[in-house]
Amino acid sequence: DLYNFRYIGPDTKVFGIIGNPVGHSKSPHMFNAAFKSVGFDGIYVPLLVDSVPNFLKTYSSPDFVGYSITIPHKMAGLECSEEVDPIAKAIGAINCLVRRPSDGKLAGYNFDYVGAIEAIEEGLQVGGSIAPRSPLAGKVFVVIGAGGAGKALAYGGKAKGASVVIANRTLASAAELAGKVGGKAISLDELDDFAPEDGMILLNTTSVGMKPKINETPISKKALKNYALVFDAVYTPKLTRLLKEAQESGASIVYGTEMLVNQAFRQYEQFTGLPVPKELMREVLAKSTS
Ligand code: ATR
Repeated sequence: DLYNFRYIGPDTKVFGIIGNPVGHSKSPHMFNAAFKSVGFDGIYVPLLVDSVPNFLKTYSSPDFVGYSITIPHKMAGLECSEEVDPIAKAIGAINCLVRRPSDGKLAGYNFDYVGAIEAIEEGLQVGGSIAPRSPLAGKVFVVIGAGGAGKALAYGGKAKGASVVIANRTLASAAELAGKVGGKAISLDELDDFAPEDGMILLNTTSVGMKPKINETPISKKALKNYALVFDAVYTPKLTRLLKEAQESGASIVYGTEMLVNQAFRQYEQFTGLPVPKELMREVLAKSTS
């Protein structure tokens, strides 16, 4: 009953996820269920978009209130933002655009950073106690990918005092990001032999391993023994080959669904200004992923 609305009228607010591909997204499930649960007059749809500026020019009416932004548009989204949150500006990518009611301008935010870092910090907390400083401080934090999500996580790792390494297929993009955040760049080919210490943290922000190519993984199983925690931004399937092999190697794992739900909470707040039905959104996501 994803789009089973009782009523869509002249005041219905339109939201959506702008991406390409976008059919796999679970955001419509979470947002529509949340809107419905509190009787919020809104609809959230998947939007397969080639050109973000063209799309925004076409759908400029005030009823088009907010968008989630995903692959490959997180950088283009930033360029189309009329106002940019300072964190999103520092990262160089957004994942949320909201039309301000006061003047109709589109404001860009990046909630990938806080969503993922929160999930990873929880994965590292021992015995549920909140440490006085981030458990990421002083750790080697290896980010695979230098796109929108890679930028957010590299920024997040640095902000938490970790030593950041960026591994990317295109070395030049890794070097550029490493230069910006103050980190080290390596190519994807070097990743298997990269082991300056044990107990490192690994984060995949590329689409490698996403359905239907579920047999792909960005790193060899052997190299995973150097990592204490592995996070995968891919969440279709929930248990990617990377996470399965990490688990078998004895690492803690953090599912991409954790980052997804955490950042969705922030987007919901921006979109509606209402309290976030967190449990419901979690449940809906769990039901629609396996
Ligand atoms: P997002 O905004 O979600 O991060 P993106 O900006 O399109 O998406 O970035 C995609 C990232 O995944 C890039 O780092 C890309 O590597 P390149 O810089 O070499 O293009 C990486 N990526 C995508 N497909 C990949 C593949 N098959 N193997 C390795 N890396 C891949």
